[in-house]
Amino acid sequence: MELRAQIRSVAHYVPERRVTNDDLSQLMDTSDAWITERTGIKERRFVDTTCAGTSELGERAARLALAQAGWNAQDVDLIVMATLSPDLYFPGVGVMLQQKLGCRTIPALDIRAQCSGLVYGLSVVDGYIKSRQAKKVLLVCAEVQSPVLDLTTRGRDMAVLFGDGAGAMTIEAVEGDGSHRGILDSFLGSDGSGAEVLCMKLPGTATPGFISADDIQQSRVHPSMDGKLVFKNAVTRLLETAGTLLKRNNLTPEQIDLIIPHQANLRINEMVRTQLGLPPEKVFNNIQKYGNTTAATIPICMSEAVAEGRLKRGDLVLTLAFGAGFTWGGNLIRW
Ligand code: COA
Repeated sequence: MELRAQIRSVAHYVPERRVTNDDLSQLMDTSDAWITERTGIKERRFVDTTCAGTSELGERAARLALAQAGWNAQDVDLIVMATLSPDLYFPGVGVMLQQKLGCRTIPALDIRAQCSGLVYGLSVVDGYIKSRQAKKVLLVCAEVQSPVLDLTTRGRDMAVLFGDGAGAMTIEAVEGDGSHRGILDSFLGSDGSGAEVLCMKLPGTATPGFISADDIQQSRVHPSMDGKLVFKNAVTRLLETAGTLLKRNNLTPEQIDLIIPHQANLRINEMVRTQLGLPPEKVFNNIQKYGNTTAATIPICMSEAVAEGRLKRGDLVLTLAFGAGFTWGGNLIRW
């Protein structure tokens, strides 16, 4: 009998504090025109000082997803968490969710695949379900990135791009329901030669002394990126991922009802869309409102796409992501 990992619910939570491009231009030498033209972003959400960390946002999204699925925390038998911004250096955020949500003493693991967190996460969940190690899985993707951004002119190339937010999904093992709904295929990749092209080096064990006052003084504690190189690699790998998943499932781009790409730059997504020969309505974008929320991006998109009626039961969905590592990948899902 056919065993499938079916998505029961998806929900999101974003902090209330809106930070517009004009707000950022009060802090650094930038402008709404520059940010809009280069990235498509108009505003993003930042947590305020009362936020207790990524697990807080993850918990809020998780509670919404659980309620939507009609599950209680005791039903969950695996937590998969994706984030690049954990509450603590260790342990991971998964165990914090286990405790905050009041789950049983189930396995809880963290995935570190940055902007590819959701696509890696769905692939991992699919594997656990198909190998019969889990039946009811909570996948949470959450990021609190604003506190580590350099919100001065020195850090403007990174600071204008990122935001905070969380998305969560419940995914269930379903056997032979005849619907063919669920995760149909996943494709993942990595290339560690790009590790330092987009990274945050400190604090880190590769640095003697781990972190010093001088590192903080010299602003070596913020993320950094070669934007142009990331941009080129992103377009190539997103197209490679789409091509691979379409080919091995005998599909043409037109047969996909909705592509949900990672939201790093609207121009990246427009290039991918035109290369695939698809009209704008076949690709979901919300970068204008949230910037890049890293692992949380795709589940936030999914949650909004469902709410807006753009993602319906039975639709064929393709997720596409590229991020630091480099990591990339996608999932083909019958919704
Ligand atoms: N506001 C105003 N000017 C800025 C700026 C900002 N926020 N950030 C950079 N600039 C300046 C640069 O200093 C540069 O000035 P110069 O020409 O005097 O040297 C100029 O704008 C052009 O910068 P450049 O880096 O050429 O811009 P770009 O067109 O490559 O766009 C990114 C920059 C970051 C938007 C783009 O490269 C990008 O989106 N890259 C991929 C990002 C990504 O995918 N990241 C996450 C992966 S998941």
